[in-house]
Amino acid sequence: MVTTKDPAAPRAIHDGGSLLDSENRGFEPEFLKVVERLEREDIADRELRARGEEGYNPEEGYWALAPATARLLHVLIQTVVPSRMLEVGVSHGYSTVWLAHAARLTGGHLTALEYNPRVLEIARQNLAEAGLTDQVDFVLGDARETLTTIGDEYDFMFLDCWDRLYPEILPKAVPLLRPGGLMTTDNVDVDEPGSIEFRRLLSAYAGIETTNVPIGTGGLEITTRRQD
Ligand SMILES: C[S@@+](CC[C@H](N)C(=O)[O-])C[C@H]1O[C@@H](n2cnc3c(N)ncnc32)[C@H](O)[C@@H]1O
Repeated sequence: MVTTKDPAAPRAIHDGGSLLDSENRGFEPEFLKVVERLEREDIADRELRARGEEGYNPEEGYWALAPATARLLHVLIQTVVPSRMLEVGVSHGYSTVWLAHAARLTGGHLTALEYNPRVLEIARQNLAEAGLTDQVDFVLGDARETLTTIGDEYDFMFLDCWDRLYPEILPKAVPLLRPGGLMTTDNVDVDEPGSIEFRRLLSAYAGIETTNVPIGTGGLEITTRRQD
């Protein structure tokens, strides 16, 4: 899979670069202010990474999903109307702000898993600034463990932790997907060997139907578990 390791990877197939006025209509100013700041900070972070800046720690980079992918998730959530939403991999909270905003629109609630306490603290502040704290429960810890403790089924899931961990994350995440629910995974590029293996593992689960949308960095895998 691309992006989370390769700063030189193409930023986006469609990164939402030129927004129509209507794309920002109906969003609160405090939400847009945080989103736009995080988009600027993510670009600056990518530039530092690409330059190989001394002291740069990739584990604490932004690695934010592309704006167009965020908007796709925001639209999907409004059509699925999930009650229980799950995110794996928060970083500074760019995707979390979008998911939490969609949760507020649809009356859902988000559980967000992250194992780096430093980026999680920044994400908490960003959610607070966007006025979205009430929509999210953050769980600090390694998702390979916390996925086994958070219980129940989820109607919507967004996987965006380190790509190399997906083979370990999938066996714990897929059983949490409610039949008829939607699971989305970022940075899945159908031509890339790691992604090919990811898609092979995913499609081996009973009842799973999955497809790939070439958007953002690599692509977004969109998956459902069929109702029996
Ligand atoms: C690609 S970034 C997430 C970007 C974020 N979703 C966004 O779009 O703004 C990956 C994040 O997953 C976290 N992470 C990686 N492996 C993890 C694990 N096993 N458990 C919990 N968090 C993990 C990293 O610390 C990092 O913050």
